[in-house]
Amino acid sequence: MFARSAVRAVAQPSSRFFSSSASRNFKVAVLGAGGGIGQPLSLLLKQDPLVTSLSLYDIRGAPGVAADVGHVDTGSEVKGYAADQLDQALEGVQVVVIPAGVPRKPGMTRDDLFNTNASIVRDLAAAVARSAPEAHILVISNPVNSTVPIVANTLEKAGVFNPARLFGITTLDVVRATRFLAGVVGAQPAETPVTVIGGHSGPTIVPLLSQAPQGKSVTGEKLGALVHRIQFGGDEVVKAKDGAGSATLSMAYAGAKFTSSLLRGLNGEKGVITPTFVKSPLFADQGIDFFASNVELGPNGVEKIHPIGEMSAEEQKLLEACLPELKKNIEKGKNFV
Ligand code: NAI
Repeated sequence: MFARSAVRAVAQPSSRFFSSSASRNFKVAVLGAGGGIGQPLSLLLKQDPLVTSLSLYDIRGAPGVAADVGHVDTGSEVKGYAADQLDQALEGVQVVVIPAGVPRKPGMTRDDLFNTNASIVRDLAAAVARSAPEAHILVISNPVNSTVPIVANTLEKAGVFNPARLFGITTLDVVRATRFLAGVVGAQPAETPVTVIGGHSGPTIVPLLSQAPQGKSVTGEKLGALVHRIQFGGDEVVKAKDGAGSATLSMAYAGAKFTSSLLRGLNGEKGVITPTFVKSPLFADQGIDFFASNVELGPNGVEKIHPIGEMSAEEQKLLEACLPELKKNIEKGKNFV
């Protein structure tokens, strides 16, 4: 059965976004820090009290972002690294967040990004294996369903893969589900946390609205429309930006939120549970060895992968549609390395 506390812990919009009792030092690197996500993400991480040192890397622009963000009056040190300084940027880092790569343009699926982003992510993962083999790696670059297996295989090849330390960030789907449900039922997002499982692209995004206390009341056409909006919310942003990219600000928020959760777990806080795309036993018997579900984060990274819990008939159908697509995406990533 799905623990209620787990459901509640999924989306805490702002009250516990950042811990107030910093006790351990964490050095965090952002790879792709000069980009649309990387810049606001670096700014938000500068405000996280658990971050003591920020290492900003990009093939262009990171020293400028670091000089700018570095003036914010919080305690952490910020340093920027140029294109040829990747290994230095990773020195002594415990957490690496990767938003490097190209974003979508109107009409593109996340899978259309594969050709460009797969090699970017593989090369960055190889550098982490070399310079920070113990680091926790948080992948934002799309297609997440494929880039996470690419990182896993790259680390495996280097002999340093630890599945407890690799995460695909699916937090934006959780943030959207929570926000959109709040709008539909006329509540505050704090009252409408939603668990989202599966992967991070269209039909692989499976929101478990029936497990959310306020979600049960949404049925019929309204439910169908809400699920579709959660699955394809990214398209709304791509369309509105009209060729200028995809979600950057809400993604930076989601990325900082997930990083904060991981740091709180690493710092020893108990009961930090949130959906994330990890190496998972849940559908491994069907050849799907990565899956997003509620995961408890702790001193070692992944402490416990929670079961999916009860699903409605509609959600069962969504999951059936998710699995073959997710399997294809994962295999594509694995075959690339
Ligand atoms: P952007 O184009 O604004 O920024 C990407 C940055 O990556 C650029 O500054 C670029 O110089 C840098 N970069 C490229 N190759 C690099 C390399 N080898 N090493 C270091 N940096 C490198 O793109 P944006 O909007 O920031 O999106 C980044 C990625 O995040 C895209 O793949 C996008 O699809 C993905 N994304 C993921 C989401 C999620 O929910 N996981 C949500 C939204 C976007």
